Amino acid sequence: MTPEILMDARSEARSLKLADFDLYPKRGFLGEADPLEFFQEDIRGAHWPWVREVQDVANVLPKLLITDKARRYITDHMGSMWSPRDGERIIALSSSAQHCLMRTVSFVGNAFVHGSITDMWSGKAEAHIPEWLAVPWCLLADQLGTTPTLSYAWYALHNWRLADPTQPISLENVMLINNFFGGLDEEGFVKIHVVVEAAWAHLPDATQRALKAVSDDNPRELEDALLVVRDGQKAAVETMGKMWRWCSPKVYYDRVRLHIAGWHNNPALPNGVMYEGVEKFGGKPQQFGGETGAQSSGIPLQYALLDVRHEDDIFLKYLLGMRAHMPRGHRAFIEKVEALSRNGLSIREYVDAHRISNHSLLRVYRQCLAALLEFLNVHYRFVEEYIAKQEQTLPFNTTKYGTGGTHALPYLKKHIDRIEALVEEV
Ligand code: HEM
Repeated sequence: MTPEILMDARSEARSLKLADFDLYPKRGFLGEADPLEFFQEDIRGAHWPWVREVQDVANVLPKLLITDKARRYITDHMGSMWSPRDGERIIALSSSAQHCLMRTVSFVGNAFVHGSITDMWSGKAEAHIPEWLAVPWCLLADQLGTTPTLSYAWYALHNWRLADPTQPISLENVMLINNFFGGLDEEGFVKIHVVVEAAWAHLPDATQRALKAVSDDNPRELEDALLVVRDGQKAAVETMGKMWRWCSPKVYYDRVRLHIAGWHNNPALPNGVMYEGVEKFGGKPQQFGGETGAQSSGIPLQYALLDVRHEDDIFLKYLLGMRAHMPRGHRAFIEKVEALSRNGLSIREYVDAHRISNHSLLRVYRQCLAALLEFLNVHYRFVEEYIAKQEQTLPFNTTKYGTGGTHALPYLKKHIDRIEALVEEV
């Protein structure tokens, strides 16, 4: 690496601004303000019938999905409502309103493709999303720089509100905005993710501090920043442990995961799904993975920060593929940290270079790896118990693939093995 590249990396690290990546010191990936729950007007204050219908349909999903009428109901309510003028209105919205609409449309979109519970029991997934649903879904996805799917951002990051707004985010104080079937286990499953994200709230800020510390050659400040990362990860592990109580493995497998599956490695949709009327797809069906915690940025950012380099294989393709589903800014932040790491600001290399003179820094770096490993091990057990060991009753609900479309256990094991090897190396 040339001295010029290193100088550029240093100056970039010093001038990084979290807000440029839609990240905030207080709430991290959860955004600056609470998610917008509901709106019915455009920016000019005009009444907006299409939005009203989408929101009304999303609100009845917990009841509708337990009939055999989901697709018919969605079509009757939304089929004739969409017009190109609605597209112009969407483009003019604030980003919090676009997030709100994307969440709502994505719940309705997944409900349309996967159908009512009776459609699922008889294996009737719908491989064609009609134009009046596909076009707004893709338009919103383009505005937000993500895929036209119900990804983690809309299922968890932007799908909560506080029962008591004066109290912090906790399992006892969070309620979801949108649901499929709803109920304790679905709420519990998603709430755990939201509270884990709250435990990672200071991770982006600590990352920024850590990179600046390396560029300023300030090991003390780096150690302080890594302590924040370690403690956030420990709090995340503690929250993960509550999953067993809040969401039963059987209910997760037989109910919760059904509507969050995607259209990649899904036997019910072997060729993917057609988004009717969306030019950029050229009339070809698309195979997008469904919602999964692998689309969360917390673990990938820790891989980037601690300079964990994964082997270049099929699993890496999946890991990187998850980024297409992340909010644009979060993806850009991870990529920025990786680039700075490659260009002379690798925290792992810095810690290694100071291993004799600063043993305390090495110890904290190792503790960060240990906390990361603990998370991955607890999580691996979830996938064994909530998926792999379940009894498969529906042909498409396989015990092999995650809702994100990966061959789950080998995929996750690969990452555990990599961190274990790194713990030995440093
Ligand atoms: C019952 C609980 C859970 C189950 C069954 C589960 C399932 C899975 C599966 C199957 C994958 C592989 C990707 C795929 O979907 O194809 C995955 C990845 C992942 N999940 Fe979960 N998950 C659970 C809870 C959580 C929670 C609470 C979080 C917290 C944010 C989370 C974060 C992640 C992350 C970060 C990855 C990628 C890990 C890596 O890169 O090695 N998961 N999950």
